[in-house]
Amino acid sequence: MTEILRGLRDLNVERKRVLVRVDFNVPLQAGKVANDKRIREALPTINYLIEHRAKTILTSHLGRPEGRVVEELRLTPVAARLSELLARPVRKLDDCIGPEVEQAVARMSPGEVVLLENLRFHEGEEANDPEFARALAKLAEVYVDDAFGTAHRKHASNYGVARLLPSAAGLLMEQEIKNLSRLRDNPQRPFLAIVGGKKAEDKIGVLFDLLGKVDAFLIGGGVAFTFLKVQGHDVGRSIVDESQLAEAKRFLDEAQRRGVTVVLPRDVRIAREASPQAEAAVAEAERIPSGWIGLDIGPETAAEFARRVREARTVLWTGPLGAFELPQFSGGTKAVAEALAKAPAFSVIGGGETAAAVEQLGLAKKMGFISTGGGAMLHFLRGKELPAVEPLRLQ
Ligand code: 3PG
Repeated sequence: MTEILRGLRDLNVERKRVLVRVDFNVPLQAGKVANDKRIREALPTINYLIEHRAKTILTSHLGRPEGRVVEELRLTPVAARLSELLARPVRKLDDCIGPEVEQAVARMSPGEVVLLENLRFHEGEEANDPEFARALAKLAEVYVDDAFGTAHRKHASNYGVARLLPSAAGLLMEQEIKNLSRLRDNPQRPFLAIVGGKKAEDKIGVLFDLLGKVDAFLIGGGVAFTFLKVQGHDVGRSIVDESQLAEAKRFLDEAQRRGVTVVLPRDVRIAREASPQAEAAVAEAERIPSGWIGLDIGPETAAEFARRVREARTVLWTGPLGAFELPQFSGGTKAVAEALAKAPAFSVIGGGETAAAVEQLGLAKKMGFISTGGGAMLHFLRGKELPAVEPLRLQ
C-alpha cells in the first residue's frame, strides 16, 4: 500500500505559528550532541518554514525520563547544535506547555525558531493524554510531523496533536516513507537482509518478520553468537542471549522450511577482552577458544558477505557486524559497507549505530537511503501501521 500523505507544501504556513514534531532523540556526550544526523535531517523542513516566514516551534523528546524532569535530558545542547547548523539563534524554552511557553510563542516574529523542552518530562506525552495534546496544540495554528524516528509511538505530540490542528507530514517524513515503501512494497530480487548489532533480543522479532520478504539473511555482530551457540558450537565468552536460544532455533528451522538462506559467520575476530588495547586473532566461528570473545566477523566471512551484497538487487542493513568502535574489530562492517557502496543494489541502512558507522567511513552518500528510524523503520518494513502516520494520510 503506497502511503499518500498530506505534505508540508499543502499547508498554508505563511507567518503562522507552526508546531513541528521532530525526533531530536540524539546521543549526548559530555553535554554535547555526539551525533547530529537526526538534527541535520530535519533542516529541509525547518529551512522551508523559515523561508515561508513561519514561526517555527520545534518539539521533541530526548531519552526516557518517564514523566520527570531529568537535568541531563534537557534539550539545551540540541538547541545549541541546531543554532550552529542554521547559523541563526534558536531559543530553547524551559518547558513545552503552560502559560510561559504560550506567552513566549505569542511574541515570536516570522522566521524565528524556538525549541521547546523535552516532551517526556510530562507523563501526558507517552500516555497520549488528550489534555496534554490540547495544551501543545494551543501553541500553534498548524502542525507538521517530521519525526519519522518516533512514528511507531502513539504519543500526544504526534498522534494526539495531529488530530487537533491542520496537519501535514514534514519533508523528512515524506522521504522516509517514500524510500522505505520502495523496499517494503516492491523490492527487486534477490533481496538481502544484513542483521547485526549487539542484542539478539532486539533482532529476532525482526528476523521473523522479514522471513516472508527476503531471499537471504546475513547475520553478524553479537546477534550471531546466539545462533552459533544454538547450533551447538563453542562460542567462548562471546555474547549469548540465553533467553533467545529457543527463538533462534525456531527461526533457523523456519527459514530452512521455507528455503530462505541464512548465512552465519564462518570465521570471527576474537580477543580476550573488548578493549582498545585488546590483541585480535582469527578463529573458526564453530570453535572459539574458551576465555575468548568474538568481536567481529572474520575475513573469510566478510568476503562472503561482500560477494552476496554484490549479487543482490535490494539490501536492508541494520546493526554493525562487529564492535565497530574498536578499530581492530571494525573490519567486517567496513568491508561490507564498501561492497554495498559499490553494489548496484538499492540499499537501505537503519538504526543509529549502522548509520554512524557508514558516515564515519565516508560512504553515506553512496548508499541508497539512510533512515533516521531504528524501531520505526523496522516497524514500517514489517508491514505494521505507524500510528503517527495515520492522521496525516489523505482521506
Ligand atoms: C528512537 O530513537 O528510536 C526514537 O526516538 C524513539 O525513542 P523511544 O524508543 O524511546 O520511544
